[in-house]
Amino acid sequence: MDNDVILALAAENPGMGGVDQLVNIYWALSGVLAAGVPGAVVEIGCHEGRTSVFLHMVAEHFAPGRDLHVYDSFAGLPPPGPHDTDYSSPGQLSTGVADLTRTFARWDVAPPHVHPGWFADTLPAELPERVCFAYVDGDLYESIRTALTALYPRLAPGAIVIVDDYCDEVRSPRAFAGFPGVKKACDEFFADKPERVSVLVGTGKLAFGYFRKS
Ligand SMILES: C[S@@+](CC[C@H](N)C(=O)[O-])C[C@H]1O[C@@H](n2cnc3c(N)ncnc32)[C@H](O)[C@@H]1O
Repeated sequence: MDNDVILALAAENPGMGGVDQLVNIYWALSGVLAAGVPGAVVEIGCHEGRTSVFLHMVAEHFAPGRDLHVYDSFAGLPPPGPHDTDYSSPGQLSTGVADLTRTFARWDVAPPHVHPGWFADTLPAELPERVCFAYVDGDLYESIRTALTALYPRLAPGAIVIVDDYCDEVRSPRAFAGFPGVKKACDEFFADKPERVSVLVGTGKLAFGYFRKS
């Protein structure tokens, strides 16, 4: 697939899916697919689907026919908790399934399986049984804890999960630090797991953590 699509998609979604984000997603997702890791591709916190479109394109190129499942309240963010800053407010990023459908139509890409609702209500019952790659982008402590708890047991060995807004200011000093609850949720979740979250770096403020399921 021709990577110039990254420039076009990044221009549409600079705040949530810039070049650094998409390039890292490209290599991680194409890698697990080329290695034959089984399972579906998921995005937890898909908003209007601009990164979801890219997940579909990469998956279709490297392993045609993989299912793509995307999850969002479509009512925006829930209220922040004690581990979050007031960088965001409840209802911020509110959108609709129709907006996501329009994004897929505009890029002439078949729509994914869409799961509207709060993560706590949808993920435990509606995640696929096997997942090879997940992009987790929920901004807040509780959203990330809920996502990791539901996702982890379904990850195939070798699966990769990228968590957006994982800001480690020591290992990645330029990373965006607006959502400190994300790193806290990850670090607490992995305290008793064999995997560790590594950081991915880019030319800008990329705040991406990732782990590979052992
Ligand atoms: C930053 S946006 C996602 C952007 C998208 N990944 C992209 O690249 O374009 C975060 C999304 O997470 C959703 N979200 C956060 N916490 C949630 C929760 N607990 N349940 C459902 N949706 C949630 C919000 O509605 C919002 O659309």
